Amino acid sequence: MNIRLDGRIALITGATGGIGSAIVNEFFQSGATVIVTGRNSEKIDNTIDTILKNTDADISDISRINGIKMDLSEPDSAKQLIQYAISKYNKIDILVNNAATTDGQPISCSDEKFVTNMMFINYQQPYQLTRNALSYMRKARYGRIINITSLTGQYGDAGMSAYGASKAALHALTQSVAAEYGRYNITANSIAPGFVETKAIKKVREEYKEKMKTNIPNQRFANPAEIADLATFLASERAAYINGQQIAINGGLYR
Ligand SMILES: NC(=O)c1ccc[n+]([C@@H]2O[C@H](COP(=O)([O-])OP(=O)(O)OC[C@H]3O[C@@H](n4cnc5c(N)ncnc54)[C@H](OP(=O)(O)O)[C@@H]3O)[C@@H](O)[C@H]2O)c1
Repeated sequence: MNIRLDGRIALITGATGGIGSAIVNEFFQSGATVIVTGRNSEKIDNTIDTILKNTDADISDISRINGIKMDLSEPDSAKQLIQYAISKYNKIDILVNNAATTDGQPISCSDEKFVTNMMFINYQQPYQLTRNALSYMRKARYGRIINITSLTGQYGDAGMSAYGASKAALHALTQSVAAEYGRYNITANSIAPGFVETKAIKKVREEYKEKMKTNIPNQRFANPAEIADLATFLASERAAYINGQQIAINGGLYR
């Protein structure tokens, strides 16, 4: 199956990270115009350079990839990101809510500020991005919202109550958007990764990682490109009838 995203405008948050940059790469290779966002200009430039270096891109291709620095902890950033996409391209077809803060705190010592911040970055800002993007998608009668949730949002985990709650809330948003906007040829789906080889997992001690792998039927963590492949399919016209779903990519863990 040849999945193409030619002519589509895609905004990916957290695009400088492991999963985000893999999604940017796959969307770009599939013909989409991509907007790379993150908090750090240097990382944005590096992400764009790496993708262009790995492509036989000509001058017209280079105009298909742009970066904008934005910290989602800033209250107006969600609105500004959508305005940037609209002012530059006059439409937005695909929104991937991928940026997240992934820290943990045991319930007994977690403070209110920590929980509020987690919900703001991981849920409220994706909500605002979605809300702002939907008005343009509705006019265009095309839209794909892809929310990167987590195994932790499905099943919880020790020390991860706020993170898990933020991801469960994000999937509830997915389901409501699907229910409200399916009639406009707009779909919303969540991708719930298990363990993926990115910076987020590098913090975990090696021996603990090896132990975790033995519990996974596939006996390994995912490669970010495996998440990007699913995101590309969900972003395409071919996935028009998949709506409101949370698709797990976890190597068979918690079947
Ligand atoms: N890796 C896993 O095992 C795993 C498992 C389940 C779910 N997930 C989910 O997958 C997504 C991507 O994770 P990852 O593993 O690719 O993480 P990562 O490599 O650490 O990348 C995280 C990205 O989010 C951005 N980000 C973080 N806080 C931000 C903020 N306040 N404003 C704007 N951007 C912000 C980071 O930007 P900077 O470059 O500026 O830091 C970076 O681009 C997250 O939603 C995560 O919850 C990951």
